[in-house]
Amino acid sequence: MTTQISSFERNSFENQVIVITGAASGIGKAAAQLIASRGGTVIALDLNKDGLAGSDYSYQLDISDQAAVFKVIADIQSKHKRIDALINCAGYPGPTSEFVENIKWPDFEKVIAVNLYGAIWLTQAVLPIMKSQKYGRIAQVASIAGKEGNPKMSPYNTSKSGLIGFVKGVAKEVATLGITVNALAPAVIKTPINENTSQELLDYMTARIPAGRLGETDEVAEILAFMASKACSFTTGFTFDISGGRATY
Ligand SMILES: NC(=O)c1ccc[n+]([C@@H]2O[C@H](COP(=O)([O-])OP(=O)(O)OC[C@H]3O[C@@H](n4cnc5c(N)ncnc54)[C@H](O)[C@@H]3O)[C@@H](O)[C@H]2O)c1
Repeated sequence: MTTQISSFERNSFENQVIVITGAASGIGKAAAQLIASRGGTVIALDLNKDGLAGSDYSYQLDISDQAAVFKVIADIQSKHKRIDALINCAGYPGPTSEFVENIKWPDFEKVIAVNLYGAIWLTQAVLPIMKSQKYGRIAQVASIAGKEGNPKMSPYNTSKSGLIGFVKGVAKEVATLGITVNALAPAVIKTPINENTSQELLDYMTARIPAGRLGETDEVAEILAFMASKACSFTTGFTFDISGGRATY
């Protein structure tokens, strides 16, 4: 896998099926466009059906619906015969201006259900397929919040931190099977996700980016494309950084 293939093949997605969640907007949409431009067959999944218009292959899916996750992945496998990579970008922040003791439990739990349980169920659904192919790439979009914690955002911090831990261990389970599993920890990226974030928190997060600006979705798409490609063959269980210098670890 490392020396036998050309540099073109390492980055190309030709003849590959790439499942991308959160593909209707922001980071997921940018990753879908980039990977399609590199020859991949992109299967776009999102809760927001309207945002999926224009995708060649798409499913409306709430990733916090366990049964629906397994059903959609099985359907993709039956139609497309393989899944080379999963890029899980679906997620949402939940409460962004509440002290932990004031957060209502259903609001807390929903963030965990989408950002963490959804990621776990997607992984459980695709791994048997990847094991049978002896090849696979999983890229989970976590957050700098999962590494450092942002105040008044405890459900989100918890979900993204859990996701980073999940990735570390699962990666080791499949490390000899041609499958890599990694996470990505972005700082603030210009997408609609931040529209409802409190100004206080946005200022806090932005002030901590040494690059002095927000990230762009095409910058994030490039690193996700690497994580989902054949080129990402000797890095697994890792949390990639895209934070303009906020995190240097
Ligand atoms: N933009 C940032 O500043 C930033 C920073 C760190 C991490 N992230 C993470 O990046 C990922 C992508 O976010 P984005 O910035 O592109 O935001 P976005 O709001 O533009 O896109 C998120 C997409 O996820 C979808 N989604 C939400 N809940 C879903 C569910 N239950 N099932 C299926 N789809 C669902 C939304 O419909 C939306 O299309 C998220 O996991 C987010 O937590 C974003």
